[in-house]
Order: sequence, then structure tokens, then C-alpha cells
Amino acid sequence: MVEVLVGPASKELGIKVAQELNLQPIIVESKVFPDGESYIRVPEEKIDKELILIQSTHPPQNKHLIELFLMLDVAKDLGAEKIIAIVPYLAYARQDKRFRPGEAISVKALAKLIKEAGADKFVTFNIHKEEILRFFNIASINLSGGSAIGEYFIQKGVSNPYVVAPDKGAYNLALEVSKVLNCECTYFEKERDRVTGAVKTEFKKLNVKNKTVIIVDDIISTGLTIINVAKILKAQGTEKIYAACIHPILIGDAQNKMRVAGVDEVLGTDCIPSEVSKITVSKILAEALRKEL
Ligand code: R5P
Repeated sequence: MVEVLVGPASKELGIKVAQELNLQPIIVESKVFPDGESYIRVPEEKIDKELILIQSTHPPQNKHLIELFLMLDVAKDLGAEKIIAIVPYLAYARQDKRFRPGEAISVKALAKLIKEAGADKFVTFNIHKEEILRFFNIASINLSGGSAIGEYFIQKGVSNPYVVAPDKGAYNLALEVSKVLNCECTYFEKERDRVTGAVKTEFKKLNVKNKTVIIVDDIISTGLTIINVAKILKAQGTEKIYAACIHPILIGDAQNKMRVAGVDEVLGTDCIPSEVSKITVSKILAEALRKEL
């Protein structure tokens, strides 16, 4: 039998995936000591040889990462021989090279730690850049939640849709969504100042009057990327604007700022649990895991 070890950062998604696969979820117990240190307990004396472990690493990233390492370590102690580590959102992925001399390549360090802690296979969703997987010296899979976003809008009965990516990097993901919705898709040119974080988006004339535009990105963090695009769309008579992403990090009042800029609703997937995570990637994940088991 295979079991699913469900970490505190991915509780709902972990349970859903276990249900989809007809497997037993083991819910990890966790707490934080008064000095800030994390505690993990697996409420079993022994676990199966083959294990699926799920724990996302959204903010507070460092806490969720330590929990992930502790889960991997204890799973090995309790008898797991092959662990498929599912990290729906991998933190630090945007620091994937030395942009300035002397910088740590953060995601390279994380990949090493995940493997050393006990992962035999690594699964994630819409990692910032596919090339990052080369840092993992174990088999790794990068899934995409684009079709889940598209299906969500079909269920919602969206009319007259038009999909846009706020930058070239998100274009493939946006295309996946537009394919499900059978509608037009385009992208904007964006530039970000590495030091100040300021975002510049080039104006683009689009035929979006009276349309429902879905802006699709892998991550929404401060919301600045979405805000620029929403303003351009609003000025061209867009009827309704949705901002949909795989990883809704949503720092501070990002959601509110996007609304002020003209976004009617912000949506995300359960790769990161949040109040906007109404789209589940559980079916995509279960399907991928079926091939692995
Ligand atoms: C960047 O390349 C990513 O695809 C996102 O566009 C970015 O992380 C969004 O960040 P923010 O919401 O802070 O503009």
C-alpha cells in the first residue's frame, strides 16, 4: 500500500489527492515552540515503503521548508524507502541564478536539501523556469495547472473570454487556459527593475472591448504585474477582468490594489491555500501520480 503524508501547508489539497487516488492520508501534526522552532509528528509507528508526501512552501517559506525537511527525515526513519515529494509551490525559485556577483543561487541550495532530506522524486507545479529542475539530482516533474484554470472558467460559464499573459514568461500557461476556453490569447512585454522591483508594461492595443479578459500568470505576489495590465485593459473598454494564477502569494493588500486597478476577481489554485484558491489542481496531480505508482 502507498500512503499520503499530508503536511500542514497543503492539508486540503493533500486530502483531496489521497481521496482521488483512494489512498490513506496521514495528517502530520505540527506546532511551533515558544522560541519559534517547528515541531513535526507523524501519528504512526511505521509507514509504508512507498510514500507520497505533500507540503507546499509558500510564506512563511522558511517555516514550511523546515517542516518539509522534518517530514522527509521522519518518513525515512519510519520505514519509507521511496518518497515522492510533492511541493506544489517551490519557494525561492525566482533566485535561480547569480543576477549580481556574490548572490546565492537559492533554489540550487534548496534542491540539494530536499534530496538530502530523503526525497527520491520531486513533483511541483508551474515552477518559475523549467531549467531549475536540473538542480535536483533526482527525477523531477513540473506539472501545469493551466487546464484547471480553464475548466474553472468553463464551469463558471464565462462569456466572450480573452486570455492575456502579463509577460512573455506566462504565455505558455495562458495558451493552456485559452485552449480550454477556445479563445484568443496574447501577451504583454514587461520589464522589472531588479533593484527597486518596479514593473514597466508596454502598452498594447487589443480588441477587448466588451470582453471578459482573464489575465493569467504563474505567480501573483505584490500584484504590480497584474495592476499594469488591468489599467491598460480597462482603458480599452474591457467589460470584466479576472486575474488568475497558479500560485496566489498575495503579499499585504495586493488583492485590494488589484481591485482598485480594475480587477473584478482574483483567483488562484490550491497549490497555495488562500481565500482566493478556488481552483483545485488535485485531479491533475492525481493523474500524474497514477502513472508513478
Ligand atoms: C515573474 O516573472 C512572474 O511570472 C510573475 O509575473 C511575478 O512573480 C508577479 O509578481 P508581482 O505580483 O509582485 O508583480
